[in-house]
Amino acid sequence: MKGTMTVYSDKVLEHFREPRNVGELEDADAVGDVGNPKCGDMMRITMKINPDTEKIEDIRFKTFGCGAAIAVSSMLTELVKGKTLQEALEVDNKTVVDELGGLPPVKMHCSVLGEQGIVAALQDYYSKHPEKTPPAELVEKAKFLEDVDPHADEH
Ligand code: FES
Repeated sequence: MKGTMTVYSDKVLEHFREPRNVGELEDADAVGDVGNPKCGDMMRITMKINPDTEKIEDIRFKTFGCGAAIAVSSMLTELVKGKTLQEALEVDNKTVVDELGGLPPVKMHCSVLGEQGIVAALQDYYSKHPEKTPPAELVEKAKFLEDVDPHADEH
């Protein structure tokens, strides 16, 4: 990107140009739909989850949004694929931003959208499996992310 002014890391640009795991899984075991009311961006996460191992066997995303949100979705799906639900909950927005080599401060909310998408999908999974107890971290994260001000990085 020599000669081009950019505030984005090479990694962000790479994931934006060639996003991984794009699309939607048929017969998904978990679906997470989230949106940011301020910018209007939307994300859908679909997952195939092995009920015995509770591992995320496959994952896809569809993001109608900014380039940062697309790069975040791509990196996030790579990071959680193959992980157990418990391990996936440990991947927060800061992990994704670090893996992407950073995001400009005004774009940090885009990484929160990704984390919300994973949480929404896992909530959907447990709502379909009332016999399973959701991890305490999921309940805490859902509560925490609900309270996050989506405009906080614009102040
Ligand atoms: Fe809305 Fe990036 S500007 S998610």
